Amino acid sequence: MILPIYLYGSQVLRTPAQEDDLSDKAWLTQFIADMIETMHHADGCGLAAPQVGVSKRILVVDGNDLTDRYPELKGFHREMINPRFTFESEKTCSYEEGCLSIPNIDADITRPETIRVRYVNPAFEEVEEEFSGFAARMIQHEMDHLDGVLFTDHASPIRRKMLTGKLMNISRGNVRTRYRVKTDKK
Ligand code: NI
Repeated sequence: MILPIYLYGSQVLRTPAQEDDLSDKAWLTQFIADMIETMHHADGCGLAAPQVGVSKRILVVDGNDLTDRYPELKGFHREMINPRFTFESEKTCSYEEGCLSIPNIDADITRPETIRVRYVNPAFEEVEEEFSGFAARMIQHEMDHLDGVLFTDHASPIRRKMLTGKLMNISRGNVRTRYRVKTDKK
């Protein structure tokens, strides 16, 4: 089922998400399938549960549409329940980011180049994995959503100032998207 995506300005995007207690595995399996369907429908490469109004620590990423720019992402996708960083490198790198909750906006964002994450996979196994390059970038962007943080928060002060008007319009729902969106007001 394709779910509507909450836009910048919605309270749920600023609320730290709760860990799931893994008690309802059928619900989790269906919800992750819905998140993947919603992400693909919107042509996104990542989605976090708060973006569809569910304040839980669940995220999905899929790099298969990005292989023109990042060939190493061929076949790369992850679905993570309760992810936590176990390592973030001091070495950083910069990539251009965007977000389905902040349509038609991008910014260069600097973040750690390599990360390790411990999470529960869709088979309900706890795993720890290391990621670097754009895969690490996608996961860090979605992990931020679970803490109520948006990529624009990390943009340079000048870039943030330039985006103020656009962000205001998005929070009012004044934005054109090919996918269904929601704000707190409508
Ligand atoms: Ni996002």
